[in-house]
Amino acid sequence: MCDPPIFAQNQRMKKIGVFTSGGDAPGMNAAIRSVVRSSVHFGMECVGIYRGYDGMIQNEMAPLDARSVGRILGLGGTVLKTARSSEFLTPEGRSRAFAHLQAHGIEALVAIGGDGTFTGAHIFAQEHNMPIIGLPGTIDNDLFGTDHTIGFDTAVNSVVQAVDKIRDTADAHDRLFFVEVMGRDSGYIALKSGIASGASAILLPEDQMSMDELARILTQQEQAGKQTSIVIVAEGNPHGGAAEVARQICGRLGQLETRITVLGHIQRGGSPTCADRVLAARLGYHAVRGLREGIRNAMAGIQNDREVFVPFDLAINNKAYPNLEELRLARALSI
Ligand code: F6P
Repeated sequence: MCDPPIFAQNQRMKKIGVFTSGGDAPGMNAAIRSVVRSSVHFGMECVGIYRGYDGMIQNEMAPLDARSVGRILGLGGTVLKTARSSEFLTPEGRSRAFAHLQAHGIEALVAIGGDGTFTGAHIFAQEHNMPIIGLPGTIDNDLFGTDHTIGFDTAVNSVVQAVDKIRDTADAHDRLFFVEVMGRDSGYIALKSGIASGASAILLPEDQMSMDELARILTQQEQAGKQTSIVIVAEGNPHGGAAEVARQICGRLGQLETRITVLGHIQRGGSPTCADRVLAARLGYHAVRGLREGIRNAMAGIQNDREVFVPFDLAINNKAYPNLEELRLARALSI
């Protein structure tokens, strides 16, 4: 998996484009900065493409230099904006995008986003022979082939801070809280933040804990003297969101006073953590260097603290799976 997927002839590349696409993630700006400054460092020009694939189709592009990415390292969101494009799903949309890239003299792309972004990049690269390297940018941490995605660390830290605050009020009232976190298809945020915030139970899309089992765990903990409980619910868990889980559990537990908090898009914002800034810096540089060296159509990732390239089809057709052994650990510590 660590082998470069495709090598092109090592011709000198003069101009590349960079864009962000799909759900934003903290650290995307740090990644843009790294791509732009690495391009300058290697003697190439860099063009920013606004609003992802939509901006490519609408010809929303502008040159970026070292100074134009100053002071963005610590900003959440993305200065290039982002979008989910339906037009890019059509061959006509992709042809329009390619024509605009050609008009700007853009020879290769760095795409910052998640699996939807990479799926689009993979098709586009094959259809138009465009070298593309993807940077994993999503709070969900669900991309195969990299140990971490840009934005995940910031998001879980935001969740832990929020749950710590919820615990204060839960303790004050002896209440049971159901806290819903993001993760439509992936339980990484729920699992890691649940362990870090001492949750009584954690519900993931990848796990099948029944409502009877959850009720049994909460009853046991109450009988062991626990007066407040926090259950972390990934939005994509099989029973539904926090409100639905609370409704089903209340029917089984009876008297306990419960409250529901949906953290929502708070998880996507904020200044990136040190870990996300460093990850973004490393991957941006790695991607630009890879393009220069002829690598194309792959995701830049980190495995065991080393930069790697993972072919798009591998990254797209596999899913990163959280270690469910950690659920057992969380259970053991939540008594
Ligand atoms: O893919 C990242 C993610 O944050 C998911 O965890 C979440 O389900 C989704 O995006 C929300 O997307 P939107 O911003 O379109 O509501």
